Amino acid sequence: MAEETVQPVRPDHVPADRVYEYDLYEAPREVTSDYQIDIVRRLHREAPDIFWTPKNGGHWVVTRAREIDMCQRDGELFSMQDVVLPAGAKPFINIPLETDGPAHSAYRNVLQPAFTPARIMQLERDIRALAIELIEGFVDRGECEFVGEFSAILPIEIFMQLADLPKSDKADLMRWADASVHPRTLEERIWGYGQMSAYIEALMAERADGAREDVISMIMRGQVFDRGMTHEERHSMILNVLLGGLDTVMATMGVIARFLATHPDHRRQLREDHALIPRAIDELMRFYGATGTARVVTRDIEHDGILFRKDDRILIQTMFHGQDERRFDNPDIVDFNRKDVRHATFGQGKHRCIGAMLARLEMRIFIEEWLQRIPEFDVAADECAILERGMVNSMRKLKLVWPRLG
Ligand code: HEM
Repeated sequence: MAEETVQPVRPDHVPADRVYEYDLYEAPREVTSDYQIDIVRRLHREAPDIFWTPKNGGHWVVTRAREIDMCQRDGELFSMQDVVLPAGAKPFINIPLETDGPAHSAYRNVLQPAFTPARIMQLERDIRALAIELIEGFVDRGECEFVGEFSAILPIEIFMQLADLPKSDKADLMRWADASVHPRTLEERIWGYGQMSAYIEALMAERADGAREDVISMIMRGQVFDRGMTHEERHSMILNVLLGGLDTVMATMGVIARFLATHPDHRRQLREDHALIPRAIDELMRFYGATGTARVVTRDIEHDGILFRKDDRILIQTMFHGQDERRFDNPDIVDFNRKDVRHATFGQGKHRCIGAMLARLEMRIFIEEWLQRIPEFDVAADECAILERGMVNSMRKLKLVWPRLG
């Protein structure tokens, strides 16, 4: 959604040699290669490690693992108060994501019980059943559009399990989530959020007593600083749990599916040894680093001769972290046996993704069940994959084909 017309001028504290034009939102593109990784490599070659771009309201970009670690870990200097660029791009805040300090800890404590290992593992059977049902729905056809028929559906169904929602609401929720997160126009975004908000309001009224065990009821009875949360706080937290697990999982599954479709040797390794799958997921999350968020600088600071002024925005895209050759040996090689694969794609520090275990489980089950039923597959020759870049680099279309049995 490109609406920007006037570019801001370079602020006085930004040296001219630190300006590099970079637009994190580009028109969705057909991809026959990992073009987002090509962008990272080009920037690592020709842009300053830290630069300022006039695009999307004007902001800094940190392109090396060292600075990404610093921004993700130091919540005092780098606030989460507005994580989407351009500043003020959305009409609400995400709780707990866009809160800092003690308030963040209090909010996160409300959510934590919904994401304990025991609760997540309880979901395994349902996630597996769902993955199998989806795959068996198209396996005999010898083709599918992976995003529309799998990766966009699975995470929304999982949220519906967490929240104990009726299956009949699925189609509406998918439509509204898509309009909110991938709108073609501002009107579409407003409409998507409006529909979603009305749905959440009704849900909050229905679960107001907080008596059940689903994540909505948990939020309804949650306490922060010895008080119940306000209506707005609860609403915002429900939205964060819903949206936090949709686009991110869809994006990551999309790049994993495309990678496996185009790399038969890697596919074979996983088929022959399922125990490699968890490491493969982390290695591919390192390699692609599909997520990004922004930080707001809380006070003037100097770093490596650069002045970050209070209220400056800094973009953190984790794809830069995973491809940094100063951090990883041969970052351009996908190696499922890589020794140290500590990536930044789930974040680090206090805001580290609360849904990471659930996301890993969803992706592991996807790969296990997929390879069992569709051991050989490829990207369709006639229709490329379409990737949309942005705060999350998301595969929007991916047509896969495989030999039909019998
Ligand atoms: C592959 C999938 C996922 C990725 C890559 C991912 C990535 C992230 C990242 C990077 C952050 C921290 C943001 C930052 O520090 O800038 C985060 C936070 C969060 N994620 Fe995820 N996420 C994924 C799946 C999920 C799922 C499945 C859920 C829930 C159902 C979820 C819910 C959240 C929430 C609520 C936060 C805020 C945590 C806090 O602020 O304390 N995420 N995620």
